[in-house]
Amino acid sequence: MKTVETLAALRQAVSAAKAAGKRVGFVPTMGNLHEGHMILVDQAHRECDFVVASIFVNPLQFNDIDDLGRYPRTLSDDQQHLINRDCHLLFYPSVDEMYPDGQDNQSKVAVPVVSEGLCGASRPGHFDGVSTVVSKLFNMVMPDAAFFGEKDYQQLAVIRKMTKDLNMALDIVGVTTCREANGLAMSSRNNYLSAAERSQAGHIWQELNLVVDALKTGNKNFFDFTQQGKINLIKQGFEPDYFEIRHAHSLKPATASDQQLVVLVAALLGKARLIDNIRVDLSA
Ligand code: PAJ
Repeated sequence: MKTVETLAALRQAVSAAKAAGKRVGFVPTMGNLHEGHMILVDQAHRECDFVVASIFVNPLQFNDIDDLGRYPRTLSDDQQHLINRDCHLLFYPSVDEMYPDGQDNQSKVAVPVVSEGLCGASRPGHFDGVSTVVSKLFNMVMPDAAFFGEKDYQQLAVIRKMTKDLNMALDIVGVTTCREANGLAMSSRNNYLSAAERSQAGHIWQELNLVVDALKTGNKNFFDFTQQGKINLIKQGFEPDYFEIRHAHSLKPATASDQQLVVLVAALLGKARLIDNIRVDLSA
């Protein structure tokens, strides 16, 4: 696997692959790679011939400078993970390479409605930072398809809307969340958990499944379910940020006639802010 740090070297490598008739798949990441990232690389291999990953800890999407500072940077381990999964090319740009005119002087992409509420409410500016860097990365890599985890459900919805609204010519592929044995969604932020907290964190998945079971009985008391979910999480030592039932595509608050739902949770446990979600198809 080749690692390139400049846009010029990236363009050269991707152009060569395209000239050879290869379909290019792209997996954007912030590094500190784990199995949850690797399943995106595996999916890219299934759907494409040339797989490009990027590692860039994007300052524009961090609204807390301490959070940015402590974000784990583990390049050589990450490269080894990518080599093990036969990734062809790693793009590893510096902040200057991404934002040569400075972050404040960078044109921004903002995606309305779907980026508001949920994580958008507690992390102001976060999704503008994500949509800006992802649109830049798309223009830099020019992939045929890009792969995103359903773990970050709102992020995936924002990217889908941005791609549609701005007529970007690529496929967006969502990949099912990769979990620990206790149901905890794999995340770089799990590193902030102690061993005891890590096993405790499986309760989020249990609470999500309780809500799914309740929804499947046909009961539409959405507010009661999510209130109960929050109370249960508090009893387990979490500090819930939100626990919501939304329409699966628009992310608007669910109504009684909606069939495609998603239940989303964000909660603090110790030093980690954990997010998770589960899709529910009531027509099935
Ligand atoms: P990062 O948190 O590194 O995640 C990169 C990709 O891996 C995202 O699409 C995320 O949803 C996916 N992912 C992480 N954990 C996963 C899991 N347990 N199962 C499935 N997929 C998982 O998300 C970002 O980086 C950034 O916001 C980025 C899109 C790169 C823009 O900076």
